Amino acid sequence: MSIPLTYSLMRYLAAKKSVDDRALNRQVWQHLVAALSRATEQPLRILEVGAGIGSMVERLLTDDVLTHATCTAIDKEPTLLAEARRCLRQWADERGFQVDENRQGQLLMRRAGQHITIETEAFDVACFIAREHGRRIWDLLIGQALLDLIDMPTTLPGLCSLVRPGGLLYFPTTFDGDTVFLPEGDGDFDRVIKACYHQTIDERVIDGKPSGDSRAGRRLFAHLRTAGVDVLAAGSSDWVVFAGANGYPADEAYFLHDIIHTIDMALTGHPQLDAERLGAWVAQRHAQIEQGALLYIAHQLDVLGRVTAPVGERQDSKP
Ligand SMILES: C[S@@+](CC[C@H](N)C(=O)[O-])C[C@H]1O[C@@H](n2cnc3c(N)ncnc32)[C@H](O)[C@@H]1O
Repeated sequence: MSIPLTYSLMRYLAAKKSVDDRALNRQVWQHLVAALSRATEQPLRILEVGAGIGSMVERLLTDDVLTHATCTAIDKEPTLLAEARRCLRQWADERGFQVDENRQGQLLMRRAGQHITIETEAFDVACFIAREHGRRIWDLLIGQALLDLIDMPTTLPGLCSLVRPGGLLYFPTTFDGDTVFLPEGDGDFDRVIKACYHQTIDERVIDGKPSGDSRAGRRLFAHLRTAGVDVLAAGSSDWVVFAGANGYPADEAYFLHDIIHTIDMALTGHPQLDAERLGAWVAQRHAQIEQGALLYIAHQLDVLGRVTAPVGERQDSKP
């Protein structure tokens, strides 16, 4: 493909699917599947925050992990949720589900032995927590590739307080502070770019609130402990994107171009970086993608936890 003229979060999330499929930690996934299969009496209530285009719900359905469940997907971008509904509907149609939409706008997907309800709501996660406060009803809360985008110390306790005692929290592909591009360019400049980029994540402010942590993965453990959550399973889920004999798989060339573009946007005007040198670095990385020469690695963690005690009743540790 040639260098994209425009970028969209929707295409990025679609392109990310195949990268995530390779990256997700199988051991953590198996723990999740085993824990869910033990809790089959009632329909499961699943909440996904920052759900994007619904890729994780689709993954849970594809692996037949869910039989009877209500999945509530929230995201601050309504257009992504509309795409999630479109994709999930199409996915279900193609696999022989009967799909209906009820008056509340819920998608009802049914086939023998499976009865899944999907609902979507456009919400900022903090507003959703405020609205739901005290309703500890969810059996499973999912937040994929989200925790590095929010302020964990203020938001995570609220998220945990939505899950019933004994319920699960699954935080896959949580960024954890390392980004690698190969071939190495000017080693020193690569290091400065990486440090400045991670700094922009740490210092990000959205709507006046801190919204980022470049080491969210490792810091998650302490935050969960403080919130009364035991970690059941954890492991790495690094993104590794490379071109094989046939180039990059699926739409992963676009995925890489989008990553380089994001770094470019984040660092343009950075006081520690020479603009011309940054421009040359960005152009070189885009060119390497065109040639199938760029290898990209991002270190991430998958964490599965279980709520053990009502939030606020455990005071044994601080992040
Ligand atoms: C990196 S994307 C991940 C999407 C999806 N979980 C996935 O892995 O494919 C982060 C998502 O979180 C959403 N998001 C970011 N901050 C949010 C917030 N404060 N409240 C709700 N959604 C948010 C974005 O709109 C985006 O869809």
